[in-house]
Amino acid sequence: MTTLQVGLLGFGTVGAGVARLLIDSADRIRDRLGMGLNLKYVADIDLTTDRGVRLAAGVLIDDAERVVNDPEVDIVIEMIGGEGIAKTLILQAIANGKQVVTANKALLAKHGKELFQAADRKGVDLAFEASVGGCMPVIKTLRESLVGNRINGMGGILNGTCNYILSRITDEGIDFREALAKATEAGYAEADPTLDVEGFDTAHKLAILTSLAYGTEVDFDDIFIEGITQITPLDIDFARQFGYRIKLLAISKNHGDRVEARVHPTMIPEGNLLSTISGSLNALNISGDAVGDVMLYGHGAGMMPTASAVVGDVVDIARNLSRGATGRVPLRSFQPDKIGRIPIVSVEELVTHYYFRFTVKDQPGVLSTISGILGEYGISIQSVQQKGRKSSGAVPVVMLTHRAREADVQKAFRRIEALDVVDEKPMLIRLEDNGGID
Ligand code: HSE
Repeated sequence: MTTLQVGLLGFGTVGAGVARLLIDSADRIRDRLGMGLNLKYVADIDLTTDRGVRLAAGVLIDDAERVVNDPEVDIVIEMIGGEGIAKTLILQAIANGKQVVTANKALLAKHGKELFQAADRKGVDLAFEASVGGCMPVIKTLRESLVGNRINGMGGILNGTCNYILSRITDEGIDFREALAKATEAGYAEADPTLDVEGFDTAHKLAILTSLAYGTEVDFDDIFIEGITQITPLDIDFARQFGYRIKLLAISKNHGDRVEARVHPTMIPEGNLLSTISGSLNALNISGDAVGDVMLYGHGAGMMPTASAVVGDVVDIARNLSRGATGRVPLRSFQPDKIGRIPIVSVEELVTHYYFRFTVKDQPGVLSTISGILGEYGISIQSVQQKGRKSSGAVPVVMLTHRAREADVQKAFRRIEALDVVDEKPMLIRLEDNGGID
């Protein structure tokens, strides 16, 4: 029986999970794969921290280049993260003809084209299931299971930290700062939590999914990104009274000659399945013309769920190698010469329903002034609620609108914000009655 040699770069939380799974499940994997996987190297600059994984003598080294340059290594797993050394090492491994597995969403979202082209030229596989949704098999679903479908759209919760924070605010009425502290304490947040709470981590994942779903290059900077830092318990409470929940959604819609790709806090009806995904869990709803809707749900982060996806990729690659095949499934779902560049709709052109919250002086004529301005921009109000006075004498007035154009909303907001009777910066949350898919 042949044994393939595996080299792991990065022995942090997920790297240690991968090592543990490869070692503890070695027999099970061999029974399914028909060949062995030997973890020949684990490279990390930190050789002293106990990761709770028993490695054979000589496996843990501090020289990542040795891993990517060793002719015996068949598969390199990159678990370092970031856009610096990880990119250099992946390119070096590819140049040396090695198959590569990575979970590095930021790297793929920003430099995917270069990396995939390098892998295509060299005829090696570059697998990345763990880059989106942790253990959820979203990449496999898009690239393989739904290959007969035109993907119409996707809507999902792709950041466990944000979902955890919003769930805590919803359930406990605590504010954003307190909820973030709890998420950090629970170990969900990225090393730099701004990547999570400002929506960038979700957008990295959305860029990858959008590219695979429609066969398009995605310029990361074209994705509209708004995080959750401005969401208050008050908004969550109002949303609940209207029958909605607030989630940070990744939304992607296929309009043929244009696509939508946006990340922002979104109000979705409490009856929508995505509303029920709470805590650090992730979920993705994919809509295809033949399949209808498919929802994947599971742990989007964490040591062993993410390791599960990585090991799945390693075994896929090993199966291909055992049959002398690589590139069997196109890396980006479409053949390289079929990947185009479909423009992303700018947020100003977005047409959707909105939730507005204005904090205003409680005096006659205020509501009619505001609704008059909204009317001037063609924004039609669907329902209004006013709540009790704050100690300052101001009152929150909230509205749900019929469909309106974002550019008009922004213009109306600038006028309303400048009114003397308006106390705080108005709040806006976009609404998606179908959870981001039409
Ligand atoms: N920080 C990410 C999250 C980890 O909270 O979902 C997985 O990408």
